[in-house]
Amino acid sequence: MTGVTSRLPPGAAGGEDADRPGPLIGRDAEIARLRGLVEPIPRHSEVLIVFGEAGIGKSALLADTARRARSAGMRVLSVSGRETETALGFTGLHQLLRPLLDRVDRLPNRQSSALLGTLGLVEAPSGPSRLLAGIAVLTLLSDVAEETPLLLVVEDAHWLDRSSLDALAFTASRLDSEQIVLLLGTRGAAPPRGFDRGFPELQLRPLPDAAAGQLLDAQPSPPRGRGRRQVLDQAAGNPMALIELSKVIATDPAAGRHWELEPLPLTSRLTSAIASRFTMLPAAVQRALLIAAIADGTNGDVAAMDLSGLGPEALASAEQLGLITVDTTGVRFSHPLVRSAVYHSVPFADRAAVHRQVAAALHEQPERRAWHLATATAGTDDQVASLLEAAAAHAQRRGDAAAGVLALERAAELTPGSDERARRLGAAATAAIATGDANWIDDLATRAAAATRDPELRVRARRAAGWSLVWSNQQQAALAALTAVAAEASATFPMVAWESLAVAAAVAYQSGDADALRVVAERLHLLQQVARPAEPAQQRDADALRLWIEVSIGRCHDQPRALRRLATVAEETSAAHLLYRAGSAAWLLDEPELAMDLLHRSRATVRNPGQGTGAAASQVPRNGAPSAGGGSLAALGWVYIDAGRWDDALSFAAEADAFQADIISATAGLITATVQALRGESSASGSGVPAKGDAAPAVSPEHGRLLAARAWHAQGIAALSAGDYLTAYSQLRHLFADDGTPLHHHVAYLGVADLAAASVRAERQADGREILERVHARLPDCLSSRVAQLLSRARAILADPESQGAEFDKALADCDGKRWPFERAQLQLEYAEWLRRHRRINEAKPILSAALETFSELRARPWAQRSEAELRACGVAVQESAVPDALWKLTAQQRQIVYLAARGHSNRDIADRLFLSPRTVSSHLYRSFPKLGVAGRNQLRDVIDRAGQQPDAGTSRAKLPAWRASAVKIPIPLAAQPGKHDPCDYLFHCVKQLHPHGVPGCRRVADPVRGE
Ligand SMILES: Nc1ncnc2c1ncn2[C@@H]1O[C@H](COP(=O)(O)OP(=O)(O)O)[C@@H](O)[C@H]1O
Ligand SMILES: [Mg+2]
Repeated sequence: MTGVTSRLPPGAAGGEDADRPGPLIGRDAEIARLRGLVEPIPRHSEVLIVFGEAGIGKSALLADTARRARSAGMRVLSVSGRETETALGFTGLHQLLRPLLDRVDRLPNRQSSALLGTLGLVEAPSGPSRLLAGIAVLTLLSDVAEETPLLLVVEDAHWLDRSSLDALAFTASRLDSEQIVLLLGTRGAAPPRGFDRGFPELQLRPLPDAAAGQLLDAQPSPPRGRGRRQVLDQAAGNPMALIELSKVIATDPAAGRHWELEPLPLTSRLTSAIASRFTMLPAAVQRALLIAAIADGTNGDVAAMDLSGLGPEALASAEQLGLITVDTTGVRFSHPLVRSAVYHSVPFADRAAVHRQVAAALHEQPERRAWHLATATAGTDDQVASLLEAAAAHAQRRGDAAAGVLALERAAELTPGSDERARRLGAAATAAIATGDANWIDDLATRAAAATRDPELRVRARRAAGWSLVWSNQQQAALAALTAVAAEASATFPMVAWESLAVAAAVAYQSGDADALRVVAERLHLLQQVARPAEPAQQRDADALRLWIEVSIGRCHDQPRALRRLATVAEETSAAHLLYRAGSAAWLLDEPELAMDLLHRSRATVRNPGQGTGAAASQVPRNGAPSAGGGSLAALGWVYIDAGRWDDALSFAAEADAFQADIISATAGLITATVQALRGESSASGSGVPAKGDAAPAVSPEHGRLLAARAWHAQGIAALSAGDYLTAYSQLRHLFADDGTPLHHHVAYLGVADLAAASVRAERQADGREILERVHARLPDCLSSRVAQLLSRARAILADPESQGAEFDKALADCDGKRWPFERAQLQLEYAEWLRRHRRINEAKPILSAALETFSELRARPWAQRSEAELRACGVAVQESAVPDALWKLTAQQRQIVYLAARGHSNRDIADRLFLSPRTVSSHLYRSFPKLGVAGRNQLRDVIDRAGQQPDAGTSRAKLPAWRASAVKIPIPLAAQPGKHDPCDYLFHCVKQLHPHGVPGCRRVADPVRGE
């Protein structure tokens, strides 16, 4: 230990030999609350945010808690946000996890590479994913806490870089049973970014008068008389002010008079008190402290190197003044205010010189180096601006969009030429689109436009501003702005025009509003006349965007041709935004495989911008078009639902939910709600409305008709699943107006068969027929094969008794319907019900068995139960589900964990798939066992088998359901009569028997569209 005076603040709470300050005065309740979190060692995780102004005593309390935690046997990890590092992505997280980095390679592979990639420690091969890095942090901490419970202390969280805060907020929201306590200290009244979701809070108020007096009395030379009153008045219960101002009065009893004459905010008063002590130091020591203030937190070598001229003895004077503490790990400021007082009390030129000196020592760390040089620059400097631009590209490659934008923004400020500055601001605005932060985009775009008269830069800036309106959910304004840009740019900058119209089309698709669709259609017409890029590559890009626009506004008149073009795009392009638009178009055209392929590639390219565009690695692409990562996640969520991979859909929704923009998280909520509705997991039984806590979709009118239609459909399915048919009918009826106009030009049609089924079951058959007729009368002139399939199913459901069988046969004969497994199984179930009613039992059985298999694979329990009941009615001895109710008493998450455990997955595997910590998985399992009446995981398989449910994640790779494997009384499909009902079914099942894992290298037998 160095000879530090005992009343110095502890500095970083986690410092191994944190100083022992005197007892804390007047904070009994706060101390009790904080100590209660760590003593006794907690059984569950806890988060607490401690608020309060500078000097109020946050660090002192956190340090006290850390000491208690250590003596109770917990391990303490800590990090302090630093004012100078807020722009450097993931520095905070790196600092926090540094002691654990040697354990990262024990994480599941994809997690460890994502985390190391995010921290910039390795080049991540596929580009790091924010969500994966978040789950890696959670798993790592959970692993460590398994051995020794953990206290994490985040000091000065208001200065932590945003990427680290995002990652920590992600972790915090998933903490559960890991025995991890996370404490954050932060200034101001608002929680740090990402922590605004209702975490417990503790607001530190000023010390009461009596306690303030006590604190003064504990000082080495307590002020007396008038000076005492002046200190108490000025300090207003702030402990640091009480301590510091007493020191001032002790050396200059007249100081109090100046305070009364010249009122100053408390922080300024404190800063100037500290600065005046700093300036009393010898010049060499001042310089050493300045170096420490600037190099602090970079790497130890820099500080050590630069301070080497001065031994610890030379710094003793500064220690004695209480400005710093020195120990074996280096120099620490006693309070962040000391650091900023030191920094700001020297002239700019001196600070700049030290920044340059530090930068010179940082050649291994180009991002930090660039920032130091930038801070040393008054005015402009193109060379430094270029370095920052390169740093931005580096950050973007790491998947850290926000750090990239900050660097570009500063680069622009440093840029001498106004056009070049506008370009960088424009690039920052475009890059900011990926952060979803509307105000930021708008601010950057406005500044870009103001900085230049260059028409191209201005029109690009206006396009970015259009995006900011999209993210802030001002859809009408966004549409107006983007279509205006499209028109204006059409002749001169055709690609900007096409890109803007593509975004406008997305807005129009979202809104589903007829006027919006018409405006986009008009602009499309204009662009087709005039917006012709000169280069062939650009023509191809424009063509891809045109396809998306046509499809999204329902103006694609030749779908097979459009699909062929999309397939070409898939081969020729690698630009993220084109892949995203093309993938979305494929999805709207109901081509799930192609959509998945394109959307996945788009995601991979977003994360690796340098690779896809072929742009020089150090440069942000000059004309880079924006790509919105959140949109492709949401699209993937829907595609995976359609393709019958519901658990994967849930994963995408979880990832999309972490995206900032409101519209994306609303969509993510709907995806989750839809899967829950399909599985009968929403507590919607009565109302058909997914209840709160069941990811109730937060859809408001301004989200547009798209989400409204999705929400009605999900609620309708929830009610159908629950057997509440009247509710189902009334919910689904919202999908069409009385005259048959769809609520949304695309999505409404996806509910048409469910509407028909609900109308029959709710005994509203006549109404159902009438509305279906009107829907038919207003059908768009081209339909995807999926919609055609749904319409023909609806027709069959509502057909006259004489023609019903034929209608069902017709619907089933369309092999394409198999690409939507759930819808196909619904059709099979409905047909089989009809067959049984007509006493064609033997024909019904194999069809029912196929439906049941699909429903079981998807874990669509209500539908599986309906199929089982139907099978029993056919005289098939379907084993009675022994414990389904017990299984159903678990939460949706517990049930998912039980299914995966029953399949033999380890807790780590399960945690990795479900984005939970291994510890949480094990505690859920542990809590599920008694409810299921089992003693261990080896019995889970039995439980699941008895429940007749497939413990699978919903892929078609599942084995036969248990009832078929054991009590098979039903002819399996090989025994079905070929060609009798459904030749496709027959073939399909034969192939599946032979190749349960799919036919190698073959996705579909015949593809009428691509003509394979
Ligand atoms: N309740 C208290 N009793 C005695 N000293 C205190 C108390 N609260 C804070 N201090 C002292 O006041 C100074 C500032 O406190 P600190 O915890 O660093 O504030 P913050 O972290 O809120 O900026 C430190 O020297 C600290 O030891
Ligand atoms: Mg503090």
